[in-house]
Amino acid sequence: MRILSCAMAALFVATPVVHANRAENDAAMLQRANASGCMACHTLLPAPRRADGLPPIAPAWRDIAIKYRDDPAASDRLTRIVMTGSNPNARHWVGKVSNVAMPPNAVAIAEDDARVLVNWILVLVP
Ligand code: HEC
Repeated sequence: MRILSCAMAALFVATPVVHANRAENDAAMLQRANASGCMACHTLLPAPRRADGLPPIAPAWRDIAIKYRDDPAASDRLTRIVMTGSNPNARHWVGKVSNVAMPPNAVAIAEDDARVLVNWILVLVP
């Protein structure tokens, strides 16, 4: 019986959740970003310089939305960059964030989940 209820609990967790409104969807996306380690480097809103005077580690989600929102190819391209990491020799945020490239995230997130996250980021405009 106990095993059965565990299995049912696992089934419940694995079932995709339909989010009724924007706030719920935002919360679910942020949870996904946290669980995938994105928020170790990224922030939702633009962040000030750090205490040591250095710029933020990575671009804020909202700045990414502003930069790419009118680019119809952005979803595919950014999903690929998230999975494989950014090219250290062709960075897109030079001078705006710290001097590091984004490492590949394929160990932390499945491609389909990364795409959902990227599509959410791309509409995060004020
Ligand atoms: C170790 C730090 C780090 C982690 C973890 C990280 N990123 Fe990044 N990310 C960066 C940096 C730095 C850049 C800017 C790269 C550049 O200048 O081209 C970036 C850029 C991006 C961009 C814009 C890419 C571009 O070419 O403009 C997206 C989208 C993105 N990250 C999404 C994610 C997602 C989604 C996750 C989690 C699955 C994630 N990142 C995890 C550091 C990180």
